[in-house]
Amino acid sequence: MMEGQAGAGAAVEISGIAKRYSTGAQAVAALDGVSLAIEAGSLVAVAGPSGSGKSTLLHLLGAMDVPDEGTIRVGAAEVTTLSRRERVDYRRRIGFVFQSFHLLPALTALDNVAAPLLPYRADFDKHERARELLAAVGLAGREDALPSELSGGQQQRVAIARALVNDPFLLLADEPTGNLDSRTGEELLQLLLGLRAQRGTTVLVATHDPVIASRCDRIVRLQDGRILDVTDVQPEEATALLERVTRLEP
Ligand SMILES: Nc1ncnc2c1ncn2[C@@H]1O[C@H](COP(=O)(O)OP(=O)(O)OP(=O)(O)O)[C@@H](O)[C@H]1O
Ligand SMILES: [Mg+2]
Repeated sequence: MMEGQAGAGAAVEISGIAKRYSTGAQAVAALDGVSLAIEAGSLVAVAGPSGSGKSTLLHLLGAMDVPDEGTIRVGAAEVTTLSRRERVDYRRRIGFVFQSFHLLPALTALDNVAAPLLPYRADFDKHERARELLAAVGLAGREDALPSELSGGQQQRVAIARALVNDPFLLLADEPTGNLDSRTGEELLQLLLGLRAQRGTTVLVATHDPVIASRCDRIVRLQDGRILDVTDVQPEEATALLERVTRLEP
């Protein structure tokens, strides 16, 4: 089912994870016994209402937080038991894209993309790599633009290029199309689909958008911190759905 470079993306295995937050006397179970296996190189939508645990799941996968219970294996790494140092290395190989882009306003598009590489020694030209990635997301010629000079969709593409600069084995995107119109959202989705095909990157995308979700390989729906259901999307259904949607456009 998955084409692309074998071994580029990581398989993910989540077993029985729980994450609770306590605010004062109240404890909220953001995730409550979630188990899920994800094939290397697949594009998975994480759907569900606000507060259902989508961002929490992505943060745990990105080792930005630790679960109270359960285990998370990403490729060879057991994410929940990494040492401090291993966590730093692990996070370097994860791409994270946020709804609000999080670009550094004083840096050009090129410098934003290169920024994650700057603290490290590299045997390649960092700015050349950033330039290639900007071109890959359709922003050749805009290297010197500041974020404030770019549209929302363009800023999000810079954020995706930046998330790819360390050649991640897992890309986590938290509502990357949330602030964008549907056409721009569709372009971003094409970008994610292309990534999956070319590099075999495993991609998890939290989204409220049913069109985006229907184009992924699988849809995992969360509700109240639990998995409601998991749907494997058949490519022909996705095409039919997309055709319906496009026909409605003026
Ligand atoms: N840092 C935190 N402190 C306390 N509670 C939190 C924290 N982060 C998340 N929660 C709670 O955990 C639950 C899940 O939140 P989460 O952000 O994962 O939901 P979500 O599905 O991403 O929602 P949205 O679609 O609105 O982004 C919510 O009830 C939320 O209030
Ligand atoms: Mg969220």
